[in-house]
Amino acid sequence: MEEFFRFKDFDFKNKTIALRVDLNLPYNSETKELSENPRVYKHVETIKKLQESGAKIVVLSHQGRKGKSDFISLEKHAELLKKYLGNVKFIKFGESFDYIEKIKEKEVVLLDNVRFYEDETADKSIEEHANSELVKKLSPLIDYFILDAFSVSHRCHASVVGFSTLKPSLPGPVFETEQTELEKFLKKVETSKNNIFILGGAKLEEPLEIIDNFLNKEVKILTTGVLSLLFLISRGYKLGEETENFLKEKGYLNFLTKIEKLKNNEKIITPLDVAVERDGNRIEILVENLPTKERILDIGQKTIEFYGEIIKNSTNVFMKGPAGIYERKNFEYGTKKLFEILKNFNSVLAGGNTIDALSKLKIPFDGFNYVSLGGGAAIEFLTGKELPGIKALKQSFEKFK
Ligand code: 3PG
Repeated sequence: MEEFFRFKDFDFKNKTIALRVDLNLPYNSETKELSENPRVYKHVETIKKLQESGAKIVVLSHQGRKGKSDFISLEKHAELLKKYLGNVKFIKFGESFDYIEKIKEKEVVLLDNVRFYEDETADKSIEEHANSELVKKLSPLIDYFILDAFSVSHRCHASVVGFSTLKPSLPGPVFETEQTELEKFLKKVETSKNNIFILGGAKLEEPLEIIDNFLNKEVKILTTGVLSLLFLISRGYKLGEETENFLKEKGYLNFLTKIEKLKNNEKIITPLDVAVERDGNRIEILVENLPTKERILDIGQKTIEFYGEIIKNSTNVFMKGPAGIYERKNFEYGTKKLFEILKNFNSVLAGGNTIDALSKLKIPFDGFNYVSLGGGAAIEFLTGKELPGIKALKQSFEKFK
């Protein structure tokens, strides 16, 4: 039984579509540069499909989070879209939406960062978000709402769920693929032994959610990144002042209480060695020989060999988050090697920084079973939660079918 409207069943000719994509991209606030990554290419494909069908397209996205250095206007994103789509009209935050009333077939308009609206991220229900500022302004001007950004469907935010009670709302092609592929992976995990989760990166809530949900199953958790450092601390290693200060400044030490409770679990595996920078060179240090006065920036070669052996016996592997500071040549090693190993296995990769690392390291996606554009959304989906974006699309189908 269908739960959603399907993109392929619609005739979008001459219809105005609000298309929610995810153009949340890595941004360097010092150089003011935005990194292109596959999120852009994938959503551009959706926009092109809509153009071919004769739709008028209003694109919505967020960038960064309030208070963070990557919380910027989408002006640069408009330039990026122009590279692939030609003419794109950008409407700055605060400017009138009159232009949308006159937009022509195949034309693309990009609105400014949806998180500039105070009530975008307010803690409200799907129904309440129908009254959010952006939704109220835009919904009279559109015929349909398309949620292409699976990667934000775990957020009950106005631009994700707010249109669903007002206009027929449906998933876009990127969303449909993400959902289908993650469902396939979840089924495999539930029916097989030897599942491996490689969890790294710099976000901790999401890996800990995976650990909570899967630790009672047939899994092994290979830790890298910040998560591995916290497990090393909880297992009695002194990392050294630089690393410990870094973890403190960024607020990561607040997670130690939770990690303490998991520290004796044998399914959670920690690195054998780590890498630091000394006199401009990469130096690897066995964890037994810690502390070190330099900050830890990657996992080492012994860890890669050890993790590689464990992965050899796996049925399914899920990886989220880079193993180290892949942006720096000397410290891309751990992340790059893991990607190389995973190419030979049934593997799913997820997360904004993971796809950024793949792009920067020029590793094509087709070597893996699937690369998800979502991080938190993919994880919440795998843990079986009903994502607000999915719920809103289902409700919209029930209302307008
Ligand atoms: C992501 O990068 O995972 C998505 O764009 C969601 O961003 P958020 O975690 O700031 O909501």
